[in-house]
Amino acid sequence: MADYITIEHSPALSGRVVVAGAKNSVLKLMAASLLIEGVTVLQNVPHIADVEIMGQVLQALGVKVNWTAPHELTLDGHHLASHTAPYELVAQMRASTAVLGPLSGRCGQARVALPGGCNIGSRKIDMHIAGLEALGAQVCIEHGYINVQVPASGLLAAEVLLEFPSVGATENLIMAAVRAQGTTIIKNAAREPEITDLVTFLQEAGVGIEGAGTAELAVTGTTKVNEVCHRVIGDRIEAGTFLVAAAMTRGDIEVEGVDPDHLDIVLRKLEAMGAHIERGPQSIHLHDADKLRAVDIQTLPYPGFPTDMQAQFMAADAIAEGSSLVTENVFENRFMFADELGRMGADISIEGHYALVKGGTSLSGAPVISPDLRGGAALVLAGLVAEGTTTVHDVYHIDRGYEDFCSKLASLGARITRQSEPD
Ligand code: EPU
Repeated sequence: MADYITIEHSPALSGRVVVAGAKNSVLKLMAASLLIEGVTVLQNVPHIADVEIMGQVLQALGVKVNWTAPHELTLDGHHLASHTAPYELVAQMRASTAVLGPLSGRCGQARVALPGGCNIGSRKIDMHIAGLEALGAQVCIEHGYINVQVPASGLLAAEVLLEFPSVGATENLIMAAVRAQGTTIIKNAAREPEITDLVTFLQEAGVGIEGAGTAELAVTGTTKVNEVCHRVIGDRIEAGTFLVAAAMTRGDIEVEGVDPDHLDIVLRKLEAMGAHIERGPQSIHLHDADKLRAVDIQTLPYPGFPTDMQAQFMAADAIAEGSSLVTENVFENRFMFADELGRMGADISIEGHYALVKGGTSLSGAPVISPDLRGGAALVLAGLVAEGTTTVHDVYHIDRGYEDFCSKLASLGARITRQSEPD
């Protein structure tokens, strides 16, 4: 049975919604548990499909993974049974490659299936491999697997300059460096809040890391990484998605459980569109949105505008007054949902990594297909303001990263339901 989501034209959203823990943080924290020869407890863990898949990857490696409270995962990494992350699992979720660094550090070897391309681009992993090689590992690709072999003397610290501040490469390198001898310097490191969360987690486990939140990290290797209990940061992209939904419907909502600083540029863009925003310590209040004005968006590594919010803003730009230029600089193929949005009446022309959005169109409900996680969420948002009924299919993409997306939107007044259809 495949599920689909039905959305009717909805009133202005109103009320309060609590976001879950950040997907892109928790997946790496789960991988980092491989560095700990003991128990890791993670709190504020979202119930999303990607967490289940990462749990299966870790179980395949010998970690005992258990839900010990509704949003608490306990990972027991006393004994690892394997250093192979199999293709069947990696093919389901690219983020499985986050086990490369910690496995190499802890086991001295790692065998991780090479992920293929995905819906948003080819997503190479050359920087992950170059980073491991800089620490002295031998890496080769054979039969569809990345094989890492660490010399008997172990990994050795190095100075690594990343060509691009890749989130995944920075994380793998940090985790490998935890087990290297000496202090590894990572230059041009990614600075996303999820990376800072990983650094905080490792610091809590006793690892010496300096430079959190900056483009230069210094990781001092150790043989002892302590057991740790850590609360995952709130999901800034989930929060941003609800805020765009509220702005599009000219609603009044309070989003809780997220640090507004993590959404700085997103909140500024929403203000430029005409929304009023108040920032609390761990909450954001959006209210009294004027008729939306189109804004240009240019995705960049943090603290630039997040690629994971590009689709939601394009949906808002489609109904806003004026034209806008959306530039996608991070992934080469992240405009697939725009064709679906076009089926709802949006006027969008794509040229390479630019999208010209002519705003002011009235969207009309239509059956559409979710091409990827954020594109799917954007189509749901479009359905809230479209006349008539929208059905979004292939919602398994949305389930990868949003916990209870439909019920949270419904609790804010959205006219949204989820159904199953026979295959
Ligand atoms: N890249 C390379 N070589 C590498 C690594 C990356 O060329 O070795 C390229 C990629 O192909 C891509 C760009 O660099 O074009 C950025 O990739 P990055 O490594 O920064 O991203 P990621 O680690 O693959 C994470 C998130 C994405 C998010 C990006 C950017 C997770 C599990 N995924 O991906 O999240 O868009 O960072 O912020 O953390 C999502 O949640 O919907 C999502 C796609």
